[in-house]
Amino acid sequence: MSLRQILIHPDPRLKTPAKPVASVTDELRRLADDMLETMYDAPGIGLAAPQVGVLTRILVMDCVKDPELPPRPMVLINPEVTWSSEELTTYEEGCLSIPDQYAEVERPAEVKVRWMDLNGAWQEEHFTKLWATCVQHEIDHLDGKLFIDYLKPLKRQMITRKMVKLKRELARG
Ligand code: NI
Repeated sequence: MSLRQILIHPDPRLKTPAKPVASVTDELRRLADDMLETMYDAPGIGLAAPQVGVLTRILVMDCVKDPELPPRPMVLINPEVTWSSEELTTYEEGCLSIPDQYAEVERPAEVKVRWMDLNGAWQEEHFTKLWATCVQHEIDHLDGKLFIDYLKPLKRQMITRKMVKLKRELARG
Protein backbone atom coordinates (compact mmCIF):
# COMPACT_ATOMS: atom_id res chain seq x y z
CA MET A 1 0.00 0.00 0.00
CA SER A 2 1.12 3.54 -0.55
CA LEU A 3 -0.13 7.02 0.09
CA ARG A 4 -1.44 8.95 -2.90
CA GLN A 5 -1.25 12.68 -3.27
CA ILE A 6 -4.58 14.41 -2.69
CA LEU A 7 -5.41 17.07 -5.29
CA ILE A 8 -6.29 20.49 -3.94
CA HIS A 9 -9.09 22.59 -5.47
CA PRO A 10 -8.99 24.24 -7.99
CA ASP A 11 -7.94 21.41 -10.32
CA PRO A 12 -9.69 20.45 -13.57
CA ARG A 13 -9.63 16.77 -12.54
CA LEU A 14 -11.91 17.62 -9.59
CA LYS A 15 -14.46 19.08 -12.02
CA THR A 16 -14.49 16.16 -14.47
CA PRO A 17 -17.13 13.40 -14.26
CA ALA A 18 -15.45 10.04 -13.62
CA LYS A 19 -15.91 6.96 -15.83
CA PRO A 20 -17.67 3.79 -14.61
CA VAL A 21 -15.50 0.82 -13.62
CA ALA A 22 -15.88 -2.02 -16.15
CA SER A 23 -14.41 -4.80 -14.02
CA VAL A 24 -12.60 -5.29 -10.74
CA THR A 25 -8.90 -5.72 -11.48
CA ASP A 26 -5.81 -6.02 -9.28
CA GLU A 27 -5.02 -2.42 -10.20
CA LEU A 28 -8.43 -1.33 -8.89
CA ARG A 29 -7.89 -3.29 -5.65
CA ARG A 30 -4.52 -1.56 -5.24
CA LEU A 31 -6.17 1.81 -5.85
CA ALA A 32 -8.86 1.05 -3.20
CA ASP A 33 -6.17 0.02 -0.65
CA ASP A 34 -4.15 3.15 -1.37
CA MET A 35 -7.23 5.36 -1.13
CA LEU A 36 -8.19 3.90 2.27
CA GLU A 37 -4.66 4.36 3.56
CA THR A 38 -4.57 7.93 2.21
CA MET A 39 -7.97 8.71 3.77
CA TYR A 40 -7.04 7.37 7.24
CA ASP A 41 -3.67 9.14 7.07
CA ALA A 42 -5.19 12.53 6.17
CA PRO A 43 -7.29 11.93 8.37
CA GLY A 44 -10.68 11.99 6.69
CA ILE A 45 -13.94 10.01 6.58
CA GLY A 46 -14.28 9.76 2.81
CA LEU A 47 -12.21 9.96 -0.37
CA ALA A 48 -13.18 9.65 -4.04
CA ALA A 49 -10.80 8.53 -6.80
CA PRO A 50 -10.80 11.89 -8.67
CA GLN A 51 -9.28 13.41 -5.52
CA VAL A 52 -6.16 11.31 -6.15
CA GLY A 53 -6.26 12.11 -9.87
CA VAL A 54 -7.96 8.89 -11.03
CA LEU A 55 -11.14 9.60 -13.00
CA THR A 56 -12.85 6.33 -12.11
CA ARG A 57 -16.10 5.80 -10.17
CA ILE A 58 -14.77 4.44 -6.90
CA LEU A 59 -14.92 5.90 -3.41
CA VAL A 60 -13.88 4.85 0.06
CA MET A 61 -15.33 5.90 3.40
CA ASP A 62 -15.39 5.13 7.10
CA CYS A 63 -17.64 7.33 9.21
CA VAL A 64 -16.91 5.52 12.50
CA LYS A 65 -15.32 8.43 14.33
CA ASP A 66 -15.34 6.90 17.81
CA PRO A 67 -11.83 5.41 18.37
CA GLU A 68 -13.36 2.92 20.85
CA LEU A 69 -15.41 1.32 18.05
CA PRO A 70 -14.01 -0.97 15.36
CA PRO A 71 -13.34 0.79 12.02
CA ARG A 72 -15.62 0.08 9.06
CA PRO A 73 -13.64 0.68 5.86
CA MET A 74 -15.99 0.67 2.87
CA VAL A 75 -15.16 0.58 -0.84
CA LEU A 76 -17.96 1.55 -3.24
CA ILE A 77 -17.54 0.98 -6.98
CA ASN A 78 -19.99 2.58 -9.45
CA PRO A 79 -22.22 3.81 -6.59
CA GLU A 80 -25.68 5.16 -7.39
CA VAL A 81 -28.29 6.74 -5.13
CA THR A 82 -31.46 4.67 -5.64
CA TRP A 83 -33.64 6.55 -3.12
CA SER A 84 -33.40 9.83 -1.19
CA SER A 85 -35.53 10.91 1.76
CA GLU A 86 -37.69 14.01 1.41
CA GLU A 87 -36.43 15.05 4.81
CA LEU A 88 -33.32 17.18 4.52
CA THR A 89 -30.50 17.68 6.96
CA THR A 90 -27.76 20.27 7.28
CA TYR A 91 -24.22 19.28 8.10
CA GLU A 92 -21.05 21.32 8.32
CA GLU A 93 -19.03 19.71 5.54
CA GLY A 94 -15.35 19.78 4.77
CA CYS A 95 -13.25 18.12 2.08
CA LEU A 96 -9.69 16.81 1.90
CA SER A 97 -9.34 18.68 -1.41
CA ILE A 98 -10.38 21.95 0.28
CA PRO A 99 -8.35 21.83 3.52
CA ASP A 100 -9.52 23.68 6.63
CA GLN A 101 -12.66 25.13 4.99
CA TYR A 102 -16.08 24.17 6.34
CA ALA A 103 -19.59 25.20 5.39
CA GLU A 104 -23.14 24.07 5.99
CA VAL A 105 -24.67 22.05 3.16
CA GLU A 106 -28.27 20.81 3.03
CA ARG A 107 -28.86 17.32 1.62
CA PRO A 108 -31.38 14.48 1.92
CA ALA A 109 -31.12 13.11 5.47
CA GLU A 110 -31.19 9.46 4.32
CA VAL A 111 -30.31 7.70 1.08
CA LYS A 112 -30.24 4.21 -0.34
CA VAL A 113 -27.12 3.51 -2.40
CA ARG A 114 -26.32 0.60 -4.69
CA TRP A 115 -22.72 -0.22 -5.57
CA MET A 116 -20.37 -2.98 -6.64
CA ASP A 117 -17.92 -4.32 -4.07
CA LEU A 118 -14.33 -5.50 -4.64
CA ASN A 119 -15.64 -9.02 -5.37
CA GLY A 120 -17.75 -7.66 -8.21
CA ALA A 121 -20.98 -8.27 -6.23
CA TRP A 122 -23.75 -5.64 -6.02
CA GLN A 123 -24.58 -4.29 -2.59
CA GLU A 124 -27.28 -1.93 -1.40
CA GLU A 125 -27.52 -0.11 1.89
CA HIS A 126 -29.70 2.49 3.57
CA PHE A 127 -27.45 5.22 4.96
CA THR A 128 -28.42 7.67 7.70
CA LYS A 129 -26.80 10.51 9.63
CA LEU A 130 -23.11 11.21 8.89
CA TRP A 131 -22.89 8.16 6.58
CA ALA A 132 -25.69 9.58 4.38
CA THR A 133 -24.03 12.99 4.12
CA CYS A 134 -20.62 11.47 3.46
CA VAL A 135 -21.73 9.06 0.74
CA GLN A 136 -23.60 11.87 -1.10
CA HIS A 137 -20.56 14.17 -0.83
CA GLU A 138 -18.29 11.43 -2.24
CA ILE A 139 -20.67 10.48 -5.08
CA ASP A 140 -20.74 14.18 -5.99
CA HIS A 141 -16.95 13.99 -6.44
CA LEU A 142 -17.49 11.25 -9.05
CA ASP A 143 -19.75 13.70 -10.91
CA GLY A 144 -17.16 16.49 -10.75
CA LYS A 145 -19.04 18.34 -8.03
CA LEU A 146 -17.64 19.82 -4.81
CA PHE A 147 -19.50 20.80 -1.63
CA ILE A 148 -18.65 24.46 -2.30
CA ASP A 149 -20.77 24.24 -5.46
CA TYR A 150 -23.79 24.32 -3.10
CA LEU A 151 -22.69 27.63 -1.55
CA LYS A 152 -23.49 31.15 -2.67
CA PRO A 153 -21.07 32.36 -5.39
CA LEU A 154 -19.41 34.93 -3.14
CA LYS A 155 -18.60 32.38 -0.43
CA ARG A 156 -17.43 29.86 -3.05
CA GLN A 157 -15.12 32.43 -4.67
CA MET A 158 -13.71 33.39 -1.28
CA ILE A 159 -12.82 29.76 -0.51
CA THR A 160 -11.40 29.23 -4.02
CA ARG A 161 -9.15 32.28 -3.63
CA LYS A 162 -7.85 30.89 -0.33
CA MET A 163 -7.09 27.57 -2.03
CA VAL A 164 -5.27 29.24 -4.93
CA LYS A 165 -3.11 31.03 -2.35
CA LEU A 166 -2.53 27.79 -0.41
CA LYS A 167 -1.47 25.95 -3.59
CA ARG A 168 0.95 28.75 -4.42
CA GLU A 169 2.49 28.43 -0.94
CA LEU A 170 2.69 24.64 -1.19
CA ALA A 171 4.35 24.87 -4.61
CA ARG A 172 6.93 27.23 -3.21
CA GLY A 173 7.65 24.62 -0.50
NI1 NI B 1 -14.61 15.89 -0.57
